[in-house]
Amino acid sequence: MEKKWWKESVVYQIYPRSFKDSNGDGIGDLKGILEKLDYLKELGVDVIWLSPVYQSPNDDNGYDISDYRAIMEEFGTMEDFDQMLAAAHERGLKIVMDLVVNHTSDEHPWFVESRKSKDNPYRDYYIWRPAKDGKEPNNWGSCFSGSAWLYDETTDMYFLHLFSKKQPDLNWDNPKVRDEVYDMMNWWLDKGVDGFRMDVISLISKNQEFPDGTAGVNGYASFNEPANGPHVHEYLQEMREKVLDRADTLTVGECSGVTLEEAKKYARNDGKELSMVFQFEHMDVDADGTNKWTDKKMDLRDMKAVLTKWQKGLEGVAWNSLFWENHDQPRSVSRFGNDSGEYRELSAKMLATCLHMMQGTPYVYQGEELGMTNAPFQSIEDFRDLDSINAYHELTEQGVFEKEEMLRYLRRKSRDNARTPFQWDSTPNAGFTEGEPWIMVNPNYKEINAKEQMAREDSVFSYYKELIRLRKEHEIVVYGSYELLLPEDKELYVYTRSLGAEKLLIVCNFSENSPEFFLPEGWEAEKLQRWIGNYPDDRIEKEMQIRPYEALVLSMS
Ligand code: GLC
Ligand code: CA
Repeated sequence: MEKKWWKESVVYQIYPRSFKDSNGDGIGDLKGILEKLDYLKELGVDVIWLSPVYQSPNDDNGYDISDYRAIMEEFGTMEDFDQMLAAAHERGLKIVMDLVVNHTSDEHPWFVESRKSKDNPYRDYYIWRPAKDGKEPNNWGSCFSGSAWLYDETTDMYFLHLFSKKQPDLNWDNPKVRDEVYDMMNWWLDKGVDGFRMDVISLISKNQEFPDGTAGVNGYASFNEPANGPHVHEYLQEMREKVLDRADTLTVGECSGVTLEEAKKYARNDGKELSMVFQFEHMDVDADGTNKWTDKKMDLRDMKAVLTKWQKGLEGVAWNSLFWENHDQPRSVSRFGNDSGEYRELSAKMLATCLHMMQGTPYVYQGEELGMTNAPFQSIEDFRDLDSINAYHELTEQGVFEKEEMLRYLRRKSRDNARTPFQWDSTPNAGFTEGEPWIMVNPNYKEINAKEQMAREDSVFSYYKELIRLRKEHEIVVYGSYELLLPEDKELYVYTRSLGAEKLLIVCNFSENSPEFFLPEGWEAEKLQRWIGNYPDDRIEKEMQIRPYEALVLSMS
């Protein structure tokens, strides 16, 4: 397998708004990130993925960009950015930018022009269609509720927005649009950034016939309907030629709706498109079909089947990214582990073990390394995310869910769970800000915070450090091949990795029970060494009782 620095790296995602506020306005900023680079160095990560820091009216917290070459005022200035980039590089940390080019803000000068008239030079930068039978051109839904089409009186036409009304979709079939995007990317590469995380890149190429899709709970087809469209690979190959080939970058495509076969095209080892993709199938194991608003719990067998399919399916052909969390997902310890009292730290470490011992590039989302949990939001007023707020209104007004029921689902699945301020220490507002935070601080910061965990050897933070160190020291963690054992077990996730004569056995208990486990054939207790585990002893026996949320990594060489 070809070696690459980005296969051997661990990426840390920063959501700047919630990371560290340096000036007391309650909003995280670039100077705040600068202050905390040493913290990331201590954790041992190699790359920072920065969620968007560009100028934006913040309808979707920066994922609606009005100027790709300016910094959002609340986050600081371009000087602050340059200083942060230089400071990161001095420490050997790379910076990957969030590239949001499926859409812009409706306040971007291109769209301001585009909506003016049918013959405006920027008209074809976006996707305009006339009404069909007096209604929207098709039944596609926006990711954030309602139709994906908005009627615009000025020219008596609809424009497409797969996300909010303030995020009109760019028309990638227009070569001028593509050139604008490539110029902008080159501009950032000239500054010295190290790569791009590409927002919903699987959606950029739309089937120009705009066929209807299957309607979901709210009556509209999923925003994913156009995923993996007719020219997406052609456009990414063009981007590779016109931009990416100039530098040795890490590129990761956010590919909602991607299948294994499609992923092989996006992230094939031949390097013609991207380094790797984010797939989302394992984020759907606790969904109800295409509806994420449910409190259904996952069946571990589904999780194992999905992750194994990706581990095996891409091996030697393309490259996986590994993640439990990001700014769009709830906290993993609350979702797949157990965030109550005694099991919180154990299960956070277990989840980390399960993911970090797989093949692929691991992503750590800010606060995950502390085992930060979902937040106790009380009422709809506590939420800030437009996805959560819109879904609440739409689904309760349509009578799909009762208000209390919907609030329960939001507490479980809302993106705001991941967006509460990073918990630095036990001082007011978790040391995130000296002002009023833009979103509530999780009240558990007195127990769960970085300061306490950095000083404690058996903390979740120390455990992540150790996992990251193991990956750095042992090639098998990066390049070893994966094999699932016990696919039908409902409590244990057991797999092996092998590279040459070396082998690893990873045992993770996703339950509160203590199931019996027998070492698989060929694994003799006397020959095994314990690498890491989340219980403080080192028993290795032929037959073991695996304790609640236990994780254990054994090596044999
Ligand atoms: C991606 C982002 C998400 C954003 C959406 C629209 O899914 O991760 O936060 O809302 O795209 O840009
Ligand atoms: Ca600030």
